[in-house]
Amino acid sequence: MLKRKNKEAEKKREKAIEKLVKKMTLDEKIAMVHGATLFNSGAVERLGIPGIVTSDGPMGVRAEFMEDRWLPAGNQDDMVSYLPSNSALASSWNKELAHTVGYVLGAEARGRGKDVILAPGINIKRDPRCGRNFEYMSEDPCLTAALAVPFIQGVQENDVAACVKHFAANVQETDRSMVDETIDERTLYEIYLPAFKAAVQEGDSYSIMGAYNKINGFHCCENKRLLDGILREEWGYDGAVISDWGGIHKTKEAAECSIDLEMSVFPDFDDYKLANPLKELIQKGEISEAVVDAKVRNLLRMMYRLKMIGPKKESRKAGTYNAPAHREAALRTAQESMILLKNEDQVLPLDPKKIKKLVVIGANAATLHANGGGSAEIKALYEICPLAGIKMYLGGNTQVEYVKGYYVPEKLQESDVSWQATSVDDEKGIEVGQAVRDESSEQANARHRRDAEERLKAQEREQAEIHEKNEKLFAQAIEAAKDADAVIFVGGLNHEFDVEGFDRPDMKLPYEQDLLIDALLQVRKDIVLTFVGGSPVEMPWREQAKTILWSYYAGMETGNAFAKIIFGEVNPSGKLAETFPTRYEDCVTAKNGQFGVWGKITLEEGPYFGYRHFDRQHIAPAFCFGHGLSYTEYEYSGLTMKKEKGRDIKLTFSVKNIGKRAGAEIVQVYIAPISARTARPDKELKAFAKVELGAGKSKKVSLTLKQEDFAYFDESLHKFVTDAGDYEILVGASCEDIRLRGIATLS
Ligand code: BGC
Repeated sequence: MLKRKNKEAEKKREKAIEKLVKKMTLDEKIAMVHGATLFNSGAVERLGIPGIVTSDGPMGVRAEFMEDRWLPAGNQDDMVSYLPSNSALASSWNKELAHTVGYVLGAEARGRGKDVILAPGINIKRDPRCGRNFEYMSEDPCLTAALAVPFIQGVQENDVAACVKHFAANVQETDRSMVDETIDERTLYEIYLPAFKAAVQEGDSYSIMGAYNKINGFHCCENKRLLDGILREEWGYDGAVISDWGGIHKTKEAAECSIDLEMSVFPDFDDYKLANPLKELIQKGEISEAVVDAKVRNLLRMMYRLKMIGPKKESRKAGTYNAPAHREAALRTAQESMILLKNEDQVLPLDPKKIKKLVVIGANAATLHANGGGSAEIKALYEICPLAGIKMYLGGNTQVEYVKGYYVPEKLQESDVSWQATSVDDEKGIEVGQAVRDESSEQANARHRRDAEERLKAQEREQAEIHEKNEKLFAQAIEAAKDADAVIFVGGLNHEFDVEGFDRPDMKLPYEQDLLIDALLQVRKDIVLTFVGGSPVEMPWREQAKTILWSYYAGMETGNAFAKIIFGEVNPSGKLAETFPTRYEDCVTAKNGQFGVWGKITLEEGPYFGYRHFDRQHIAPAFCFGHGLSYTEYEYSGLTMKKEKGRDIKLTFSVKNIGKRAGAEIVQVYIAPISARTARPDKELKAFAKVELGAGKSKKVSLTLKQEDFAYFDESLHKFVTDAGDYEILVGASCEDIRLRGIATLS
């Protein structure tokens, strides 16, 4: 009944769209398919069609920008809830939280008058050094898809479109707008596409953003294979495709493939490829007007869904921003996102009653991160840093001494409002400066070598300054550490490293933190080592350390969540959504990474990166995918498997909390093909659940493995196939900590 009603409503909508398109002049259609300001598309007032108002981004609604200059407007009413980054959210492995965070983001976007929020970022993390990994969820497609779907649904319940990005395989920031990635079909279909497919088919994302990079020779925003072949034809997508800002390079190519709206970072709106250049080609008869009609239809369809136009306009939700409930959601997510990597001798939780004097060491204890990172930057209503959280938690009876510990050059501590302006200049150099685009690959390589040398020299100068200043700071920190009941170190990265437009040069902690940690461990074996950062770092001292707690950029309530975990009010339950390698050289991308021939990379490793690579090569990472400890322990038992309809398999097992505290365990199910006919990863995550358990309590967990979970992509048949045979089913607390095993036989 409901289905029939929906079908009828859809028919009506399509008719109304058709009518509108027929009424529109070519100029009006062209106005709709390109930016009229830096974040809005053109309106057709005569027909009551408003412009589409977009905004970044994944961690909250970005501050207002000037219409034609890439600079913040400087308003006082655009502070918002600063939400945990997608990397933090993913570490919670909590689908319901993903929905809540999506809902909050959607409500805030609508509250700020937006139609499209440019989130979530769901690119698969191929290389731990990618500057935007903090914005993305995981190295694993199953986990990413599972969280992206409820996130998108949450956003869109507010009559705001999610714009899931960046489609596809936006795996690096180095040379991001020109790099050509050679990727085989199987890797695309098995690794880089599934989360996008789920986002549009299950999440019903009203829009999707084409990525900057090229895949197999064609820019993603002009890529017929990707946009027409896969997205529209194979996946049946009828939503709006929006270009990344400046992602379109050629008029005819973009016009004739399924990209609907061109956005860019430059204010020369009439010269956008889908503006006057498109009109001219249509008038010359080189492009059919029908291609613009198709784009306009897709945009109007999204506008109908958002109730921007059509009969339901009056009932469009209003949203709101900075609601107290939004802050509660931010706190809960932050709490569930932090990962206890190590906790020997149960150093954590600390008992506040036993601490008269606490020493907190490390610049990240007192660093605010919201206003950085690129387009994900946020003008936060507030942000509680770890030091503030700790002090607020302990109150006045505990002496808290803070020492900075290591030197962070001043420029990094300023709020960087000019970031975008600089980025625009850079982009312009590539986009507009013909000299750059026309240079031979030898010239380009030479130019990049020169740039790299200059950067290196600047880094060396900075390194010398850091080294000089650190002498005194280290000595102070070591002295302070000796004289305290407990010591907490808060180090890690910041948005100088986790940033759009650049990849990290290595995976090391900056500012000589490793040296300081070594020295601190000499005087305090019980030091609580904590980190805030957006991507894995090497931890060469990790064998000596007893306690390591990791937090991604966890939003406005980071400090409160930190304190609640450290002092035991909250039991940590986050688990790694990506591998933490021991050293960068262990990663497959160290041999096959960004710095080959400029402008080209081949993803030779196929699906074998992240845990798939570490498994295959038998390399032990520092902390594996899925790892995370708790203040309690869990016991797994009684795995049974039952065939359900078709070839689906229902798994049932019990998890018991055998400790003295309530907690939540993330149980993971991996499939390991036995005697596979084709080379396949040793094991792959296919299902998971987060189970809340009171002390001493146990629960039955049921999870279903579908037939397609056993499949791989067969390039010769161009489809997913499932081989008959035996598969080991591994149920575990991480990808290495397998607790239960069974064999499933597919006939
Ligand atoms: C980024 C997008 C972002 C857009 C608008 C681009 O540089 O890649 O993620 O949404 O700018 O700020």
